[in-house]
Amino acid sequence: MIKIAPSILAADPLNLERDVQRAVDAGCDWIHVDVMDAHFVPNLAYTPDVVRRLKETFSLPLDVHLMMDHPDSLLNAFLDAGASGVTVHAETGNVTELLKTIRKAGVLAGVAIRPGTPAEAVLPYLQDAGMILCMTVEPGFGGQKLDERTIEKIEALRKAGYTGEIEADGGIREDNLAGLMEKGLSVAVMGTALFRNPDMKAAVKRMHALQIQRRNT
Ligand code: DX5
Ligand code: ZN
Repeated sequence: MIKIAPSILAADPLNLERDVQRAVDAGCDWIHVDVMDAHFVPNLAYTPDVVRRLKETFSLPLDVHLMMDHPDSLLNAFLDAGASGVTVHAETGNVTELLKTIRKAGVLAGVAIRPGTPAEAVLPYLQDAGMILCMTVEPGFGGQKLDERTIEKIEALRKAGYTGEIEADGGIREDNLAGLMEKGLSVAVMGTALFRNPDMKAAVKRMHALQIQRRNT
């Protein structure tokens, strides 16, 4: 069953607890927390204290996505705050070292790639990473259209024998999710399509019920 990870970037920042509760009540699987440094991406988002309060308030796993240069500068702060998984970008920092630190903390270690970065960039890390995040939009903002060119990376990773989680992030909606699952997607980050949906619970139920035939097994 696909895991649905609502991205709180699309939540109302003045009503974050209300919106996260709505996602929990809707049956979502993880909470996706975007961290942005206004340098690696042209936006700024979320601090370790937000992760700490989410951890104290909700029980869903906290899937922290570090869209930042020098992720080592705040990695321990997010781990201490209670992240259930931390994903760093292959384009920044010493990924092998970062993954070792994340795994040592006993949480899911992920590597992300931007749309313009080829899947080959993560091949050296397939043994160490419990998750590969294929960005399906240019990172930084919600509400963008999914970049179709990125989908083949999911299939390429499965064909390369990767059996960990594959997450996609950006522009995912109910009407394009099945196609991503057929390629081997296992975690769908959804912001706009979930938080703008008046009946989030019904949408999550339909998506959880999607049965697909994986073509690349
Ligand atoms: C973009 C973020 C995504 C975004 C989700 O950099 O990483 O998580 O919030 O995007 P939408 O709203 O397209 O689902
Ligand atoms: Zn994200």
